[in-house]
Amino acid sequence: MYTDKVLKYFHKPRNLGKIKNADGIGKVGNLACGDMMYLYIKVENIKGKEVITNVKFQTFGCVAAIATSSAITEMVKGKTIEEALKVTNDEIIESLDGLPPIKIHCSVLATEALAEAIYDYLKKSNKPTPKDLEKKHESIVRHNEELEERYEEWMENQKE
Ligand code: FES
Repeated sequence: MYTDKVLKYFHKPRNLGKIKNADGIGKVGNLACGDMMYLYIKVENIKGKEVITNVKFQTFGCVAAIATSSAITEMVKGKTIEEALKVTNDEIIESLDGLPPIKIHCSVLATEALAEAIYDYLKKSNKPTPKDLEKKHESIVRHNEELEERYEEWMENQKE
């Protein structure tokens, strides 16, 4: 089901953990499948550019979530904020030699966590947020609220 690369990243996740005093934290959750992801970034100004110098993640997600978040941390470390925001799900999936279609949403979780960490960093440092990122943030928040509502409804139905 999984490629060798996915299994390699799963068995030896890269950049797993938490960054103390992170400059940005992205938290995304998907109660529908019970997973949760945190992505932490450290940003430094290097020669006038905002560069992600450290990035770590924590997740309660599945094999694919661990592999994709591992891969994304490696891909964005050393990149500027603008470059990191351009990393797509397809690129992550390609770097892992593919994912089963049913697991594509796990890679979305990783890119959303990164986008949220960058959004958090820009907001905390009073920097302008690109329009696309603002829209993505709103849609992530909306989506999570919908999931939580559905989850609560489901919990209520269980009581009946
Ligand atoms: S993170 Fe939910 S199934 Fe992969």
